[in-house]
Amino acid sequence: MMSLHQRQQQQQQLPLADAYPLSPRAASYGFFPQRTMSFFGRTGLLALLALLVLLGVFLPWAGPMEGLFFSSTNRERSLSRWRDYTLAQAAAFVAKNSTVIVCAVSQPYIPFLNNWLISIARQRHQDKVLVIAEDYATLYEVNQKWPGHAVLIPPAPDAQTAHKFGSQGFFNFTSRRPRHLLHILELGYNVMYNDVDMVWLADPFSYLEGNHDVYFTDDMAAVKPLNHPHDLPPPGKKGRTYICSCMIFLRPTKGAKEVMKKWIDELQEQPWSKKRKANDQPAFNWALNKTAGQVDLYLLPQAAFPSGGLYFKNDTWVQETKGMHVIIHNNYITGFDKKIKRFRDYGLWLVDDHSHESPLGKM
Ligand SMILES: *[C@@H]1O[C@H](CO)[C@@H](O)[C@H](O)[C@H]1NC(C)=O
Ligand SMILES: *[C@@H]1O[C@H](CO)[C@@H](O)[C@H](O)[C@H]1NC(C)=O
Ligand SMILES: *[C@@H]1O[C@H](CO)[C@@H](O)[C@H](O)[C@H]1NC(C)=O
Ligand SMILES: *[C@@H]1O[C@H](CO)[C@@H](O)[C@H](O)[C@H]1NC(C)=O
Repeated sequence: MMSLHQRQQQQQQLPLADAYPLSPRAASYGFFPQRTMSFFGRTGLLALLALLVLLGVFLPWAGPMEGLFFSSTNRERSLSRWRDYTLAQAAAFVAKNSTVIVCAVSQPYIPFLNNWLISIARQRHQDKVLVIAEDYATLYEVNQKWPGHAVLIPPAPDAQTAHKFGSQGFFNFTSRRPRHLLHILELGYNVMYNDVDMVWLADPFSYLEGNHDVYFTDDMAAVKPLNHPHDLPPPGKKGRTYICSCMIFLRPTKGAKEVMKKWIDELQEQPWSKKRKANDQPAFNWALNKTAGQVDLYLLPQAAFPSGGLYFKNDTWVQETKGMHVIIHNNYITGFDKKIKRFRDYGLWLVDDHSHESPLGKM
């Protein structure tokens, strides 16, 4: 049975949950691959690719036609290059100090990706960013503007069903997250995962003190003392903690891999159902609960990493902790447009005036 409180909690914790349907303004962020996709459909795009391959094959005999087809062939070649780009290659390309910063993005979230990237570029950490593209349009778009910084780990989730909050498609989509992270740990990298409805105001890396396995933030809105402990907090009303799956830093240790494996298990044991329209966060919390004895966990300071329920709702607290904020999470609100408006109201929607600072340029 799911109480109203539970439902609210889940909705609050779900960023960008009801991104569909997109507003007309958001739809105008569209770009070539999206238009192609919607125009021809997936089969159409495949046919188009096949045609380009054929043109490529016959090019040597094309003679005077060569100039006409040259750019199409180039495009096809670059598409196939990114389609075959592996996570191992991508991580090796972006990692600095054996560290990668990852997000998982599908096409409707590209404006948020851009906003997040501008804030990271301001802290000079953008070179480590790897965008896990959850659809081919995002893969091509990001790599065309910023070669090598996006990878797609097949199979791509079904774009039509992946975004509707509470749907099985959305659950499937978010369930890929611990697999991606485990994969990167197995490759031997430290990994910082962020949701893209976040903005960096300062450099988070100096907060990753010591040599713990897993670092995370609390998703609760209640104010804690500045010197709160860094252990896993006590369980809340539902018998589990409310740690956010939105920002996680992992070292490639046995302990961190254990937590990711447990997270995958928990998602499989409590699969999506019509009644319990779960997302991946409760499973993450159960994974922390069950591995707490064997793994070195570290709760990051609330003043530096507040939940959206605190930062956007308690001005007194924001004033009191001025200058201490490091990453702001635009959660405890649902809806694409509402999130953008809130970022704008707080001066955190950087894409309007600062898109030249983004490694993706103006989108
Ligand atoms: C790598 O880490 C060292 C110390 O751990 C730090 O001084 C240096 O700035 C880091 N380099 C990069 C490129 O992040
Ligand atoms: C979600 O994943 C399950 C299990 O892999 C699969 O049976 C189902 O078809 C998927 N649903 C959607 C909408 O992607
Ligand atoms: C794990 O959850 C159980 C059930 O809520 C709780 O009794 C226990 O204290 C939790 N363990 C940790 C380490 O948080
Ligand atoms: C807001 O923050 C202030 C200052 O930290 C705190 O005393 C107060 O309890 C908070 N209000 C709510 C509703 O949590």
